Parts: sequence; structure tokens; C-alpha cells
Amino acid sequence: MRRRSFDLRRPARRRWFDGQWGCVAVGGLTVLMLFLFLGRESKPRSPSLISQIMMQEPYRSSLVEALNITDEILSPLSTTRQLVDQISLAKAFVIIAKDNNNLQLAADLSFQIHHSQSLLSSSATLKTSPSPEESQLAIRNMASLLYQAQQVNNYDTATTIAKLKSKIQSLEEKSKSETEKSTKFGQIAAEELPKSLYCLAVRLTTEWFRSPNLRRKLSDSRRMAITEKFTDNQLYHFCVFSDNILAVSAVINSTTINSRQPDLIVFHLVTDEVNFLPMRAWFLMNDFRGAAVEVQKVEDFTWLNSSYVPVLKQLQDSQTQNFYFSGTGDSRTPVKFRNPKYLSLLNHLRFYIPEVFPELQKMVFLDDDVVVQKDLAELFTINLNGNVMGAVETCMETFHRFHKYLNYSHPLIRAHFDPDACGWAFGMNLIDLREWRRKNVTGIYHYWQERNSDHTLWKLGSLPPGLLAFYGLVETLDPSWHVLGLGYTNVDPKAIREGAVLHYNGNMKPWLKIGMEKYKGLWERYVDYSHSLLQQCYIH
Ligand SMILES: *[C@@H]1O[C@H](CO)[C@@H](O)[C@H](O)[C@H]1NC(C)=O
Ligand SMILES: *[C@@H]1O[C@H](CO)[C@@H](O)[C@H](O)[C@H]1NC(C)=O
Ligand SMILES: *[C@@H]1O[C@H](CO)[C@@H](O)[C@H](O)[C@H]1NC(C)=O
Ligand SMILES: *[C@@H]1O[C@H](CO)[C@@H](O)[C@H](O)[C@H]1NC(C)=O
Ligand SMILES: *[C@@H]1O[C@H](CO)[C@@H](O)[C@H](O)[C@H]1NC(C)=O
Repeated sequence: MRRRSFDLRRPARRRWFDGQWGCVAVGGLTVLMLFLFLGRESKPRSPSLISQIMMQEPYRSSLVEALNITDEILSPLSTTRQLVDQISLAKAFVIIAKDNNNLQLAADLSFQIHHSQSLLSSSATLKTSPSPEESQLAIRNMASLLYQAQQVNNYDTATTIAKLKSKIQSLEEKSKSETEKSTKFGQIAAEELPKSLYCLAVRLTTEWFRSPNLRRKLSDSRRMAITEKFTDNQLYHFCVFSDNILAVSAVINSTTINSRQPDLIVFHLVTDEVNFLPMRAWFLMNDFRGAAVEVQKVEDFTWLNSSYVPVLKQLQDSQTQNFYFSGTGDSRTPVKFRNPKYLSLLNHLRFYIPEVFPELQKMVFLDDDVVVQKDLAELFTINLNGNVMGAVETCMETFHRFHKYLNYSHPLIRAHFDPDACGWAFGMNLIDLREWRRKNVTGIYHYWQERNSDHTLWKLGSLPPGLLAFYGLVETLDPSWHVLGLGYTNVDPKAIREGAVLHYNGNMKPWLKIGMEKYKGLWERYVDYSHSLLQQCYIH
């Protein structure tokens, strides 16, 4: 048994976040923005009640997901391809809707098809890509509509499924040839996976509606026993907030395979509306050595609204919107930090863990880009010494110190925070939910977020205020618990060998073609590539 060095704690030195995370987090706020912004902007364009209801959802999620997000959104080819793919799927739904005499839906779809097509044709004429805002709006609107179409239609009938399937098939052939084409043009293959994930989600959704057995699993007696586990504080609870089914599956698989008592493990997943049914279907279909898996969606958390959450409130402010979208906030800010797709509300959710799980006392938070190599039960025995969170420090390099992230010209920052405070990492954190509630960390977080309504404490991101909130409340963990950097740098092989949790923070995720070859294997061994659904979606 490894000994934890509790006396590592240096009260005078404060911890700060890992730089990678800082970068990633900076986008979080922006994406929330976009969601609200879209919600508001798109209303007048929608032709019918159905669309209007959908447009009002404050944080509609994207089907096409954020992997190498910067490129994903910046590359004209990629959004164009997404639009093209959506259009062909939508056309299939138009036929189905008409068959079912659902003329309103058919009209809505046709309207959106027309809109996407005109976006494409105008950009073709002008020889420029559609603006990211515009195409993202179109993609999101279409995605919602497609999702709605799946629900509204009589999906249980064999004909619908057959039609859907043939359409998906042609979509896939298309996407395959697109992929070949794009490889020819030297396009980075990183974009391949978002489409495969989209395919997987569609297939799992179809599977869900087609298979009564799958749905029945949710209500059978064995399930009742599992549900009781969700709130049992004797068990090992983990939470993952993600919209990437494949990544989450690898996290759970690796955790349970390396556990001596997998039946004591409970995973709590929170995803978005679009990935909710697919994710639920996946974790009902596959058993992970008896571990219990709960799936929720963030849209169901009605308390997560703008009257409670300052970030959401601030996002409704038009000045804030300009700040994020005009790009005039600070011309030195890299485009990446202004990228609205960087993160979603799901990434923001980490600051509300005790509210998401009101009945739990202790929990391990995992990012979806990690892989587990050891039994994590021992982690739960670590004494946090009254602190709220356990994390590994990252300030071996000066880069990860406090002054890099905050405006030390501001008296409030100068007065409260040591500029040389050490950073620490999110991604594998032991959390004492009782201490969190007692110390009102969410309240502190809200306090700092509200102070920053003019963006003078820090420029961008939802993370900095969270960091301020945890200031002085973090217990240092032995670095072997959480080995960072597998997504962007060379990591000490010994650290990798001995690490309990490996973190692919950075752009080179193991599920992407651009992932670092030498680190991919560590992740891939927990993915069942022979699974028929994965094969059908060209995930390999
Ligand atoms: C991904 O992001 C990295 C860092 O921004 C960049 O170097 C790379 O070219 C991007 N593209 C892809 C899809 O890898
Ligand atoms: C917003 O959240 C607060 C508490 O978090 C809750 O009391 C209120 O009912 C919510 N409002 C809506 C419209 O759901
Ligand atoms: C937590 O902090 C908020 C904001 O600072 C405050 O309004 C609230 O009353 C506090 N709650 C508790 C339980 O102390
Ligand atoms: C830093 O804070 C000072 C004092 O509030 C403010 O005048 C300045 O504009 C801030 N700097 C930035 C870059 O926001
Ligand atoms: C989990 O990992 C094991 C081996 O590492 C693999 O055989 C299995 O197929 C994986 N399960 C799933 C559902 O991915």
C-alpha cells in the first residue's frame, strides 16, 4: 500500500489549476454563451410551434461533438460536411413524416433543409465558409429537429426503421467517400470520429426504440436493486460529465476491470439531451462487471437556471455576448479561447456536484479523457484533512502558477490570492461533498463569478472562478494518482507505468487519429472494437 504524504500540505502556498485545463476551461463560458445566444436569436426564424419549443431550450446540445474543437469549428470543410450529412438525413425524415401524414414536421424539416442548403450555396458562391456562428446555428437547429423527428415519428414501425437504416447506410457510404476524399486532400483525420460518434448515437437511439427488452431492463426487479445503489454511501461513487459515449465507456470499463470489487462501484453519468438515450442504451446493453451505472441529462436539472447560476445570467447580457463574439474583448486573446464550442454546460457542472448528488457524501470526479489502471478503492480511504477536494499539484513548471491566470492589477485579486500559488489539476479528484456544502464552495464560486461581471478579474472561462472557490481547500494527492499530459507531451514512462489514472489532457485524444500512437494502446485496450455497433460506424 502506498502511503499518502498528508504533510505535503502547505497552507501558505495555494494551488492552482493545471495549465491545460486553464486553456480548455476558458472556452466553457463561451459555449454557454452560444447556447443562450442561439436560443434567443433563432426564435424568429423558426416556422412553427415545434421548432419554437425546441429553440427555447437554453442549452441545446450538439450532435457533432467537440473533439479537436478548434479545428472542428474553424475548418470550413468540416462544418460543410456536417451540414451536408444532416441534410441527407433530414430528407429521409421528410419522406417518413409525409408518409405518416405529419405535414407540420415535414414542413419544419424542409424549412431547415432549405436554410442549410442556402447557407451552403451562398458560401460556395462567395468561396468562403459560412461563419462559425451561422453554421453552428444551422447544425444545432437541424440536430434538434432530427432528434425531434425521431421522437415524433412512429419509430416502432418496421418500415420507419428500415427507411432510417437505409438512409443511415447511404449516409455512411457518403461519409466514407468523404473521408477518403478528405484524406486525399490532406485533411486531418481527426474529424472522422465526431461523425462516427454521431453514427453510434443514431444507431443506439434506433436500438433503444426498436428493442422493448432494452427498455424493459430499466424497470425489472434487478434494476430496482441497482437504483438503490445510487444513493448508498457505503459504495464507491464516481461521476463523469460527458457527451462522448465511447470515452465514458472506456473510463468505466478500465475502472471496473482494475477493481477488486467492481460490484461496489457506482458510476453517475450526466450527459445532454441528444446523447441521453444512446448512452442509456449502451450501458444497459453492456455489463461492466456488475458496476451500477446511472445516466442523467443536464436539461433535467431545472435548478440550473439563470436565476441561480451567475454565469447563465451574465450570458444573457448583450455586452457579455459582444465580449465573447465580437472578438474585440482583447485582440491578443488566441482564437482558441474565444471558441464557443470549447466546452458545454456539462463541463460547468463540476461546480455543482453536491447539488447534482444531494444524497451522497464522497465521490471521485473523473474527466472523460482518462483511463484507469489501478484499483481506486484506496483513493476513498484518503484523509482530506477537512479539505473539500483532493488533487495533484501541477506547478513543477512556473507556467502553472497563479499569476498566469489572474489580473494582479486588481486589488481584490492582490488582496486575496498569492501570485505564486501552485496549480492543481482537475480530471481525477476526490471530493468530500459534506465539506463542500459546509464550506459553501458553490456560494464562494458564485461570489467571484459575480465580481467578474466586467471581466476585470480574469478574461475568459468558467474555470477561474471555480479555482478561486477552491482556494485553500485542496488536499495534495500523491502524483501517481493522476498522471497528466498524455494528450500533448512526452510523459515519463515510469510515471505511466505506476500511474493509477492516466489523463489525455490536450488535443491529442486517444480516440482521434492524431492521438499519440505510443499512448493510444493504453486506452484502446478498454474499447471493444469488435462490437457490432462500433463496426457499423467505422470506429476502429
Ligand atoms: C488540433 O489542435 C492542435 C492544437 O491546436 C493543432 O495543432 C492541430 O493541428 C489541431 N488539428 C487537429 C485536428 O489535430
Ligand atoms: C431556478 O432555480 C431555483 C433554485 O436553484 C429554483 O428555486 C427555481 O424554481 C428555478 N426556476 C425555474 C424556472 O425552474
Ligand atoms: C452561501 O453563499 C451564498 C453567496 O455568498 C449565500 O447567499 C448563502 O447564504 C450561503 N449559504 C450558506 C448555507 O451559507
Ligand atoms: C485589471 O484590473 C484593473 C483594476 O480593476 C483594471 O483597471 C484593468 O483593466 C484590469 N485588466 C484587465 C486586462 O482587465
Ligand atoms: C472492456 O475491456 C475488455 C478488455 O480490456 C474488453 O475485452 C471488453 O470488450 C471491454 N468492454 C467493452 C464493453 O468495451
